[in-house]
Amino acid sequence: MKLLDALKWRYAVKRMNGAKIPSEKLNNILEAIRFAPSSFGLTPYQVLVIEDEETRKKLTPHFYNQPQVVESSALVIFAAKTTINEATVAEYMQEIADQRGVPVDALKDFAGYINGSLAHQSDEQKAIWASKQTYIALGFGLVAAASEEVDATPMEGFDPAAVDAELGLAAHGLHATVAMTLGFRDAANDYLSAAKKVRFTAEKLFIKK
Ligand SMILES: Cc1cc2nc3c(=O)[nH]c(=O)nc-3n(C[C@H](O)[C@H](O)[C@H](O)COP(=O)(O)O)c2cc1C
Repeated sequence: MKLLDALKWRYAVKRMNGAKIPSEKLNNILEAIRFAPSSFGLTPYQVLVIEDEETRKKLTPHFYNQPQVVESSALVIFAAKTTINEATVAEYMQEIADQRGVPVDALKDFAGYINGSLAHQSDEQKAIWASKQTYIALGFGLVAAASEEVDATPMEGFDPAAVDAELGLAAHGLHATVAMTLGFRDAANDYLSAAKKVRFTAEKLFIKK
């Protein structure tokens, strides 16, 4: 399917049929998430991929019992790092050095630039900033799912504190920000499956100068 056709085909699926996603398709979607851009490239988040049904059952009440959490094949939770500091930057510099084959010392100015920018931000500002980055990754995941003809539901409808507690995320320095289920639509039971997609017209959305 062409990209625009895939985007028109996708919708935020409310009911899924429990079928497993072929592993190649799941891997392609996860790779697209991995290749999402982030500010400075710092990637201030990790991504939980929960295929285990028991875990998804336990999480369902924290998602206000939205059925797609258990009916999906995988629940993907984007979790922002709760501590973003010089050690975070140093870890990233090491990745650049290793992956590009450059000495880490050559990256001192870049590291200093990022650290300087972080130094001006409160913990709350950093949390908001990290959370924004997770939404870009979510977007990449949604587009990739559509292109793989896998259904997906973006989800903010959950209690982040309860999800953190259930998965022990605080101990990993993480906080759940947004999620996505991946699976296949149960068209017969999903009132939205045949509904026309609603979007503002291009004239209303775009301001062209
Ligand atoms: C960040 C975000 C959070 C959302 N949270 C939920 C959710 O918790 N449950 C749900 O069923 N749909 C959720 N949606 C789906 C939106 O309602 C849906 O994307 C929107 O109405 C547009 O419809 P479409 O995606 O079907 O084209 C969310 C969408 C986004 C982008």
